[in-house]
Amino acid sequence: MKFFIDTANLDQIREAEELGVLDGVTTNPSLMAKEGITGKNNILKHYVDICAITPGDVSAEVIGTTFDQMVREGEELAELHDQIVVKVPMIRDGVKALRYFSQKGIRTNCTLVFSPGQALLAAKAGATYVSPFIGRLDDISSDGLSLIAEMREIYDNYAFETQILAASVRHAMHIIECAKLGADVMTGPLSSIESLLKHPLTDIGLEKFLADYKKGNA
Ligand code: G3P
Repeated sequence: MKFFIDTANLDQIREAEELGVLDGVTTNPSLMAKEGITGKNNILKHYVDICAITPGDVSAEVIGTTFDQMVREGEELAELHDQIVVKVPMIRDGVKALRYFSQKGIRTNCTLVFSPGQALLAAKAGATYVSPFIGRLDDISSDGLSLIAEMREIYDNYAFETQILAASVRHAMHIIECAKLGADVMTGPLSSIESLLKHPLTDIGLEKFLADYKKGNA
């Protein structure tokens, strides 16, 4: 399972990279705005800065909502760096753009996916990654993890190469359940990755080992 970090914060990307488990980065316009990155040139430069920190894939989202706008923006983003994956929303023109990019050899991440039908359509259109937002489904009392299971079944039935990128991951249990269900990638905040580390028995056990060592070596 690949681990992506879902942030535009360079310090957090560096921290995840230093942990040695980072395979890539996903961003979106909200995450860019949260870091105060505004204006086209600053945003493009920020993508390049992110690519310099991680050797993995970096999702960069288009803002346009028509086919022509998405194609223009996506081609510009893909030109920026060979690690860039063009993030396209699951809308009618987005599906057309996914097909276009796939035929041009430009890698894509179809975002804002909330149903198995949308996931099937994105795979048919040739998306490299498809991002089901599991946390946001949970937020509306739906079941985000069921969508991962449905997508796994559908993609396996037809050997789609499209990768399931479980997004809107919020905590350790999301990551573990996604791993059990066979999601190819998960993306979440640094806190969700770090929460995999923690177990009270690890802390208690280590404290005792160190105390016993001190006693024996006093
Ligand atoms: O990658 C999708 C993600 O940015 C959405 O996450 O936590 O805003 O639902 P969240």
